[in-house]
Amino acid sequence: MKLRDVFGGDFRQFGMIFALAALVLFFQVYTGGLVLTPVNMMNLLNGNAYVLVLAIGMVLVIIAGHIDLSVGSVAAFAGLVTALAMRDWGVPPWLAVLLCLATGVAIGAWQGFWVAHVGVPAFVVTLAGMMLFRGANQWLGESNTVPVPPLIQYLGGGYLPEVGPHTGYNNLTLLIGLAAILCVVAGALRARRSTLRLGGQVIPASALGIRLVLLSLVIACATYLYATGRPGTSLPMPGLVLFALVLLYTFIAGRTVFGRHVYAVGGNAQAALLSGVDTRRVNFMVIMNMSVLASLAGLMFVGRATASGPFDGMNWELDAISAVFIGGAAVSGGVGTVIGSVVGGLVMAVLNNGLQLMGVGADMTQVIKGLVLLMAVAFDVYNKSHGRPSIIGLILRGGKPAQAPGAERAKTPEPVEKPRRHGDRVQTVFWWGVAVVLAVALVLVFRAGGRKGSGLAGEKSEAGFAAGSMIGISLPQKSSENWVLAERLFKNGLKESGYRFEVQFANGGVPEQQNQIQAMLAKEAKVLVVGAIDGSQLGSQLRDAKGDGARIIAYDRLLLNTPDVDYYVAYDNFKVGELQGNALLEGIERRQGKPPWNIELFAGSPDDANSPVFFNGAMSVLEPRIKDGTLVVQSGQTTFAQAATPGWKAENAQKRMDTLLAGTYSKKELDGVLSPNDTLARAILTSVKAAGRDLPVVTGQDSEVESVKSILRGEQYATINKDTAALVEHAIVMVNDLQRGRIPEINDDRSYDNGVKIVPAYLLEPQIVTLDNIHQAYANDPTLHRIVNPGK
Ligand code: BGC
Repeated sequence: MKLRDVFGGDFRQFGMIFALAALVLFFQVYTGGLVLTPVNMMNLLNGNAYVLVLAIGMVLVIIAGHIDLSVGSVAAFAGLVTALAMRDWGVPPWLAVLLCLATGVAIGAWQGFWVAHVGVPAFVVTLAGMMLFRGANQWLGESNTVPVPPLIQYLGGGYLPEVGPHTGYNNLTLLIGLAAILCVVAGALRARRSTLRLGGQVIPASALGIRLVLLSLVIACATYLYATGRPGTSLPMPGLVLFALVLLYTFIAGRTVFGRHVYAVGGNAQAALLSGVDTRRVNFMVIMNMSVLASLAGLMFVGRATASGPFDGMNWELDAISAVFIGGAAVSGGVGTVIGSVVGGLVMAVLNNGLQLMGVGADMTQVIKGLVLLMAVAFDVYNKSHGRPSIIGLILRGGKPAQAPGAERAKTPEPVEKPRRHGDRVQTVFWWGVAVVLAVALVLVFRAGGRKGSGLAGEKSEAGFAAGSMIGISLPQKSSENWVLAERLFKNGLKESGYRFEVQFANGGVPEQQNQIQAMLAKEAKVLVVGAIDGSQLGSQLRDAKGDGARIIAYDRLLLNTPDVDYYVAYDNFKVGELQGNALLEGIERRQGKPPWNIELFAGSPDDANSPVFFNGAMSVLEPRIKDGTLVVQSGQTTFAQAATPGWKAENAQKRMDTLLAGTYSKKELDGVLSPNDTLARAILTSVKAAGRDLPVVTGQDSEVESVKSILRGEQYATINKDTAALVEHAIVMVNDLQRGRIPEINDDRSYDNGVKIVPAYLLEPQIVTLDNIHQAYANDPTLHRIVNPGK
């Protein structure tokens, strides 16, 4: 028996599986054993299950020769509908789940109609769908975050209950693992028997035996890892949903008439039509199926995030499509497998996770993932063009040719054995295999001795922790200079204090931040300092952090709707708003002659917990003056939702300003603009300049270099000085207190209600800066001091 027999006739077919195994081993060694731990395995599944669910739908779409670009938007929309149904429309959770799936069916029917019955290319239909459902999502949700109840949270990140005798393991996980091994083995033996009965070709018994032993070993190890996490954890729910779907769709794709028709249509639609396949129905069904799975993915995501958010679903279609292509599907259709796509998705997931564990930043991770996608597909294309069978296209088909027209044929035939001699040998090898698996499992069990530690939340909370422990700093996107500065300051400060640390940005959005936090937990972070992209969407990760005994400090932005946050350190955000409101009024009074004055209002990103606080602070000053007619908002856009700037993006503020100037202010003067920060202030000024209009009084925040220069030039009127060094320093003081087992100092125990608790806070005083005080304000700031005093 040769190695190639074990792997189904062509050793190379298992390229991607080997790549996955090699990646896992590489990262396992490189990170000192952090990859194959219960915590990390749970992260991997929880954090990627929704993408893998999308990949399962996408592979059918791609096999049928289409593409679906709308899945991210559909997932986001369905997730939002579910969340709103429960929060605002009084729908009970179980019905909301059905409503979510029904939303998927309705959207799928809509898109399927255009593709299958009108003949519009799926690329165009789903591109339209991407915009349509993204817009509908923003409109319906008013760009807000909507929390979901515990049942949905359970679906997205919950664990199996503890049942049966106390074994030191999660018993249900053990049972599922055992059942999985039995299913795999029984399924393979049954398939083999029926092939033999029909006189088909099979691989040698010994090869099959080893293949099954290897598979069982992998399942046993995974089961072991999932069963031995901290008490209360197990194989997570999203994992269970995913496994069920993999089984179901492998069966549909490989064993049903519908599955064969999907391959046939993608391989050669004309031929399929001529041989009697209802191609319309096939096209309709794959598109419909994709939307239903997208809704399910959306539901799983909001469950994990504990809330639906305005930026859910961004770029998910790209993740799903990469998984499918890495998994061996052909761009031209007709080729691909469900398992291959899931493996492709896992390769990306492990790569992401491993790089995060190694502390590689989000930017480099993105670069590496792009290269891997290109290399994987190029390698496959190269092989095909040299007459070899597609390596990854054949993964797990055991070397058999694809079941349908259009699929490639394996060049190397399966090694053949005569039917009669097999039964016995397969069985012998199988039992040997079982013995080996059990032996290995037992060794693992005894060596590890079941679960470690009680892991009860709060148990360690009064005590400190070892000096030099791991501290995790999770920052949002680089949406203003202060975050970039904070990164450097945290690194220096924590290094000086002798900690191990990890500072990460989540430029890819909320899912990335969730995964980064989980990776920090896998590295046993004792304190997490979190500047959240969306303070409402980290509930599961914070719960896990607490469960692991970590302490959580919300940095600059409050963490909402969770009991799992210990402290908050920030500048007084309401005060920031008040100062901005006052500066706007003062500037207008000085510069713009007699009232009434026209102003417009801009607010920050709706998913940032700070944004409404800034806005309300400013409105506490401005509203009375709007009411008494001194100030007029000519556009009438006075609510937070109307004024919000998604993602704190300059381009969004600039576009809104362009529209206001071209419309509302085409014949009127604009005297002032409330801008929540400097990045947006400069975008607003750029828009005004481009329109060739007089500059209004514009506020800001953060003392960004370009804005300080703009104030010096007499353009931007004001900014806020929130010295990042002082904020970071104080966050590190809190970390040090926690390390020594001391209770950190706070100066506010009533203002920051996060929806579940009042978070004890340490607030720093923000300072307004205009041309009047610019020299004193930055006297101690090394960078800005030089800018306001050039030549000194
Ligand atoms: C911070 C601001 C910053 C904004 C955009 C807010 O949470 O408090 O200082 O301008 O995020 O990054």
